[in-house]
Amino acid sequence: AQSAPVVVAIDGPAGSGKSSVSKQVARRLGYGFLDTGAAYRALAWLALERGTDTSDSTSVVDVMGDFDYAISLDPDEHWVRVGETDVTHAIREPRVSEAVSGVARVPAVRQAVNVLFRSMVASSGRPGVVVEGRDITTVVAPDAPVRILLTAAPEVRAARRSAELSSQDAAAVAAALHKRDASDSTVVDFLTAAPGVEVVDSTHLDFDQTVDAVIGVIRTNVPAQ
Ligand code: DC
Repeated sequence: AQSAPVVVAIDGPAGSGKSSVSKQVARRLGYGFLDTGAAYRALAWLALERGTDTSDSTSVVDVMGDFDYAISLDPDEHWVRVGETDVTHAIREPRVSEAVSGVARVPAVRQAVNVLFRSMVASSGRPGVVVEGRDITTVVAPDAPVRILLTAAPEVRAARRSAELSSQDAAAVAAALHKRDASDSTVVDFLTAAPGVEVVDSTHLDFDQTVDAVIGVIRTNVPAQ
């Protein structure tokens, strides 16, 4: 039987570069890439489509019952689907970003998506998978051989996020980001590293340097990669 893929667990706040760095690391190593936040976003999108009150956990759990979710683990071909609908772009809309914390704070939702994540990793067919989120190093894959907390100073994160969302006002982007961090950090603590988790601070690193730093941690912890 094929051995289980090497899991590279990466946590961090919004705007840390987590997603783009994880994707590039996966490309360089021939690994899969799993953006776990996309599942929470896709569920929030479905709840909004149905006019569900996303602050009501019972209603959110009902929506979870019909959640037919699929995501590409190929770092070169990104798509996210709910049922037949391609939601790759829709899940990045501000209305989804605003609703997603409410969905992500429901324990039954977290448990269900975590089961999904573990099975996606196991059946990826890749030698390894870079799994990126908020609770990967602590809850989803606490036994992963590589566990990294990717951080950056809050003002640097806000600047990067507003560069990504060039159509939106920078101050509004920073305010939304801080609001979401505050809300998210009541659910999982993604700003302090759990024991055994290596911190990579990208405040003073550019994109390629950050990718190299992460690959350096992987090479130290997974010989022969
Ligand atoms: O990384 P992101 O911005 O796409 O994440 C979307 C939301 O999902 C964010 O508000 C935090 C939440 N999330 C989470 O609670 N646990 C994860 N493993 C990933 C994301």
